[in-house]
Amino acid sequence: MLEIHLDEDDIDRELRADVRTGLTATPKWLPPKWFYDARGSELFEKITRLPEYYPTRTERSILAERATEFARITEAKTLVELGSGSSEKTRLLLDALLHRGTLGAFVPLDVSGAALEEAVYGLTADYPGLVVRGVVGDMTRHLQHIPEGDNRVVAFLGGTIGNLVPAERATFLSALRGVLHEGEWLLLGTDLVKDPAIVVPAYDDAAGVTADFNRNVLRVINQRLAADFDVDAFAHVALWDAEREWIEMRLRAGSAQRVHIRELGLTVDFAAGEEMRTEISAKFRRDGLEAELARAGFALRHWWTDPAELFGVSLVQAVTVA
Ligand code: SAH
Ligand code: AVI
Repeated sequence: MLEIHLDEDDIDRELRADVRTGLTATPKWLPPKWFYDARGSELFEKITRLPEYYPTRTERSILAERATEFARITEAKTLVELGSGSSEKTRLLLDALLHRGTLGAFVPLDVSGAALEEAVYGLTADYPGLVVRGVVGDMTRHLQHIPEGDNRVVAFLGGTIGNLVPAERATFLSALRGVLHEGEWLLLGTDLVKDPAIVVPAYDDAAGVTADFNRNVLRVINQRLAADFDVDAFAHVALWDAEREWIEMRLRAGSAQRVHIRELGLTVDFAAGEEMRTEISAKFRRDGLEAELARAGFALRHWWTDPAELFGVSLVQAVTVA
């Protein structure tokens, strides 16, 4: 079952607003959620299987080790997943909760209708006793559509929280806390700060899949807003920002470009070499994350990581801030 809180018109309206804002700003930028049309979601899945991209397989190994403990602690009746994508790793949690006998419903929420539809189809077939209710929505705007109930647990995996800039992150975490009852849980996956020699190749793989994923945002704008970006004229850039401890993905114009965005009546010029930010992917440290969560009204109860401490999974509980 799919519940739609973002239809094609909403998507067009938001994309127009974001493109106008981002491409008339200095420096230019675009929000990362626009990577994920059907093609972008497929490219992301391909990224998760690249040798350089450690986050997915590392998080999966942590979840495999901790799923039973997670199920024992939370005894979730409803599992909600934000930015769920394929929900592939989430099956480890579903299996453990079903084994424990507490789970009745799974609610994956994603902005990408294509990815969600495929995931819900597969999950419905593979988990016949489970209510699977997919929500097409934006987690920064549609948290009120998380169903009511008791013993709800929200999973936010993959490190996607790191794709929000710090101010967006704070707003998002407070909004999430606002829809949860005291005692309910958040299972949060975060990529951790480490040697840039490991991080940078994960965002600049030898096969060029991440480059294709990055450029996909231009294809989305071409298709949805009748624009004429010469997609191949833009080079993929992945930089480690040591001060802010995040990866910044950019697209660099190889030569001067004039782009017409017909649906907006907008012409945008790029100078040769000009760079536009398309994503940040923040990396976290336990202490900073714990403090950030506390400010939003979440207490860190369990911190699970892999032996090399590449990735962290936090189990945190909604508490009342004094
Ligand atoms: N959780 C999965 C997928 C991560 S990819 C994993 O760990 O592998 C990031 C996912 O978040 C994509 O499916 C994308 O469509 C979704 N997403 C990005 N921004 C979003 C937003 N604002 N609201 C809802 N989903 C979003
Ligand atoms: C979805 N998100 C956590 C990915 C990341 O690692 O920041 C998106 C991605 N961007 C480039 N590669 C993968």
